[in-house]
Amino acid sequence: MLTVIVTGLPGVGKTTVLEALKGVSEKNGVPVSVVNFGTIMSEILGRRGMALDRDEIRRQDVALQRKIQEEAAREISERRGSGILIVDTHMFVKTDCGLWPGLPMNVLSKLSPSLLVLIEAPPEEIANRRASDKGRRRDEASRALIERELNWSRFLAAACSVITGAPVKIVNNEAGRHLEAAEELFGIISKMVG
Ligand code: AP5
Repeated sequence: MLTVIVTGLPGVGKTTVLEALKGVSEKNGVPVSVVNFGTIMSEILGRRGMALDRDEIRRQDVALQRKIQEEAAREISERRGSGILIVDTHMFVKTDCGLWPGLPMNVLSKLSPSLLVLIEAPPEEIANRRASDKGRRRDEASRALIERELNWSRFLAAACSVITGAPVKIVNNEAGRHLEAAEELFGIISKMVG
């Protein structure tokens, strides 16, 4: 059993890279399952009669988000089978009260990752992708702000690495190169499964 946590700023393209990873891993006979943390949180909220758009979750009261976050981590850990599980999530979430960790200690201890991945892209690329993703209500941001957020993600990744003992891999998802990013990620995962 191997759990890999994959994070990235909204609009960096982590979901796109993970879709490509599923294809690459199937082709190589090493299938992976991918679970999106935000989807599990939405499902839990839906069962509580709070059907929220995924872009609305982070605008809720932090105490509620914390409860749902912990439940989501528990559900994901209970779903874990014997194969490779990829958890698509965030190092931090921009709440109305500030930057809140996506992977606090209680979540990390439930997920127990073997590898932490940061998907990155040039700040101007992230800004463009957010602006052109019309189906979502994403925050627009300046290049300088995105740079600060990329740095914040690295700081948090370092903290998660110290807590879990899992290495951090930074994968670049440059324009038109999501398949290369997926292949790079697959290469590391295959090394870890031996
Ligand atoms: P989540 O579902 O993760 O939403 P998100 O942050 O908006 O992430 P997406 O998956 O939609 O964006 P992405 O960066 O993967 O980009 P995409 O592949 O779509 O989370 C939803 C919510 O759940 C969070 O806001 C939070 O409230 C909650 N949540 C999640 N985890 C949590 C946790 N641990 N604790 C608490 N709350 C949590 O790509 C974007 C665009 O770019 C697309 O148009 C795509 O076609 C394009 N693109 C991608 N790659 C490339 C490329 N290489 N070249 C050109 N275009 C590209």
